[in-house]
Amino acid sequence: MILCSCNVISDRDVHVAAKPCGARAKRPSEVFCSLGRAPKCGKCVRAIRAALEAHCGGEASHARETADLRACA
Ligand code: FES
Repeated sequence: MILCSCNVISDRDVHVAAKPCGARAKRPSEVFCSLGRAPKCGKCVRAIRAALEAHCGGEASHARETADLRACA
């Protein structure tokens, strides 16, 4: 499903950007950055944030993911 129509970013793109040990995007701005795109109208920010949370399992998982990422470094 397309989440950002300005940049044609799909939920799959967000999940790829959020992969631990990969681009490891945790915020919508990091998703844009890791995909080499820039926000335009900004209407997609909530949808991208929701996709990140769905992929990462929310804040508790973010903390765990951060610890996992440190292990990857
Ligand atoms: S819909 Fe994403 S920047 Fe416009």
